[in-house]
Amino acid sequence: MKDGFGRNINYLRLSITDLCNLRCRYCMPERGIDKCDCESILRFEEVDKIVSDLIEMGIDKVRITGGEPLVRRGIVQLIEKIGNHERIKELAITTNGILLEEMAEGLKRAGLNRVNVSLDTLDPHKYKYMTRGGDLKKVQQGIQKAMDVGLTPIKLNCVLIGGFNDDEIRNFVELTRNQAIDVRFIELMPIGEVAKWNEDQFISNDEVLKQVPELISVEKDDPSSPATYYRLPDSLGRVGLIRPISCKFCEDCNRIRLTSDGKLKYCLHSDDELDLKEVLRNQQDIHLAVQTYINKKPHEHQLDKKKYVKKSMFRIGG
Ligand code: GTP
Ligand code: 5AD
Ligand code: SF4
Repeated sequence: MKDGFGRNINYLRLSITDLCNLRCRYCMPERGIDKCDCESILRFEEVDKIVSDLIEMGIDKVRITGGEPLVRRGIVQLIEKIGNHERIKELAITTNGILLEEMAEGLKRAGLNRVNVSLDTLDPHKYKYMTRGGDLKKVQQGIQKAMDVGLTPIKLNCVLIGGFNDDEIRNFVELTRNQAIDVRFIELMPIGEVAKWNEDQFISNDEVLKQVPELISVEKDDPSSPATYYRLPDSLGRVGLIRPISCKFCEDCNRIRLTSDGKLKYCLHSDDELDLKEVLRNQQDIHLAVQTYINKKPHEHQLDKKKYVKKSMFRIGG
């Protein structure tokens, strides 16, 4: 499947729920989230039908996201179904890791290849504060279990937040020295709760290179990856920098997103969506609707610090 600029679209980010067992301060309000009514959330038979059509059109990499994807019942069976498609080359999830220890084995058996884990601090008190109650130990045990069962290579995603974790950059980088783990620092994007935050909490990824000057730049293995990579001399893992604002990576974008209520999005930072749930429920032609929509995918995102999408990150899936 090609977009209007000839880019090959082969990567689907599939959000299966907007619920989460944490409530990170930069992501969700403390309370008062409109609950999506059950009717508006795609049933797994519907997800399966849409994903099958997208696979026929050229998707060969699927990443399941949330909210927190592991809280949705039936995820193991869904993974089994998607993994059974011959054309799928990679099936992964992005998770906060809380449920990973108990679920890793079943996920691996069902055909999952890899996990990326969101982790913004290595300090249990700060973790509890930022996630409004989360237990860091569970995440660490989850990461270990995922490694033990071979859901690898694992990537840790750390959102850099000024005054919160900029003093932990070196500790995160050190995790890559003796373990084959990639740690990726992500610049805060002005989406959802953060859009209201103070400017000084946004810090550039340059801070990582400033604090750890011995990092050596390395080639990307996947040209469509949003991260640029570095490593410590002789380290097993890598350090990635994802800079959606200061350094766009749209030129090689290969991805589309499906939200849990069935909206297809050609860009994280656009409000223009295709209501695939309606296309499906009205028995219209999914291929035609998707291709027409994908033709409109913009060359690059229009996000800046003042203009941001209305939908929250936990409804889009990152
Ligand atoms: P890999 O398959 O391991 O390369 O994972 P990934 O980077 O595609 O997925 P992951 O969910 O780990 O993404 C990490 C973060 O990168 C996301 O949460 C977003 O914050 C950011 N990101 C991923 N894709 C995009 C994108 O297309 N645009 C922007 N602006 N940010 C993105
Ligand atoms: N900016 C950057 N990353 C964010 N995430 C959630 N909200 C934001 C934001 N405003 C991250 C999570 C997780 C991934 C799915 O998206 O921490 O790593
Ligand atoms: Fe949940 Fe991820 Fe949002 Fe934290 S950032 S509340 S883990 S969806």
